[in-house]
Amino acid sequence: MIKLNNIIKKYIQGQVTVTVLNKLKLVINNKETIGIIGPSGSGKSTLLNIIALLENPTFGDIEISGIDCNVLKAEEKVNFRKKNIGFIFQNNQLLEDFSVEENIALPLIMDGYSYSKSISKANDYLELLGIFERKKFKPGLLSGGEQQRVAIARALIKDPSILLADEPTGSLDDKNTEVVFSFINKLAKEKKIITIFATHNLNLIKQLDKSFLMKGGNLIDFKKS
Ligand SMILES: Nc1ncnc2c1ncn2[C@@H]1O[C@H](COP(=O)(O)OP(=O)(O)O)[C@@H](O)[C@H]1O
Ligand SMILES: [Mg+2]
Repeated sequence: MIKLNNIIKKYIQGQVTVTVLNKLKLVINNKETIGIIGPSGSGKSTLLNIIALLENPTFGDIEISGIDCNVLKAEEKVNFRKKNIGFIFQNNQLLEDFSVEENIALPLIMDGYSYSKSISKANDYLELLGIFERKKFKPGLLSGGEQQRVAIARALIKDPSILLADEPTGSLDDKNTEVVFSFINKLAKEKKIITIFATHNLNLIKQLDKSFLMKGGNLIDFKKS
C-alpha cells in the first residue's frame, strides 16, 4: 500500500518559486493499477520520482508498505528503492555497451547474483516478451517497441512490489503502444504488484483500475467515459 498525505513540492528557480504538487493526497492499495494523466509540466514525473524516493517532497508524508519513508536516511532510501521499485522511462535508458540480455540481467548482477543465473532469468523474460532471438543484439539495433520490452524486463527482473512507468509508450507508434502497454498491464496483474502509469493516452487508462487527473498540483478522480 502507498499512502501520500499532504505532499507539497516546490522548486525554486532564481527569484521564482514554483509549486508543482500542492497538498497532494493519494492512497493506492496493493495490486492496483493506477493511471496519472495531465498535460506536460503538470507534475506527473515529479510525483513518480517522489514515490520512487528519488526526490524528497518539500513537505508531507510518504508511507510505502507500512514504512514511514520520511525518516529513512539517504542510503536506506537507495536500498529501499533497489529492493521494492522498478522504473520504466519514456526513453528506455538502456546501455549500448551491453547486449540486450545483459541490460536486463544487470540489476541482478549488481546485486551479487552470478552472471549465468542472472542471464538465465533475463532469458526467461526475453522469451515471455517475444524478443528472445534478439538477446545478443545491442539495444540500438532494436525497434523502439522492442527496446521498451527490454526496459520492462529490466524493471521487473528483481520482482519489485511497485512498478512506476513514466510515459512508457510516449515515443511509440499506436501498434507498439498497444503491445508494450499490454505487456506491462498483464505482468502487473500476474505479479500482483502496484503499477502506476503516467501517460497522455486516454485509451490506455481505461484498462486500469483507477485513474487520476493531475490538476493544480493535486489529483482528482478521472471519470472514464
Ligand atoms: N529539478 C527541477 N528543478 C526545477 N523545476 C523542475 C524540476 N523538475 C521539474 N520541474 C518543474 O516542475 C514542473 C513539473 O514537471 P514534471 O513533473 O516533469 O511534469 P510532467 O511529468 O507532468 O510533464 C515543470 O514546470 C518543471 O519545469
Ligand atoms: Mg514527465
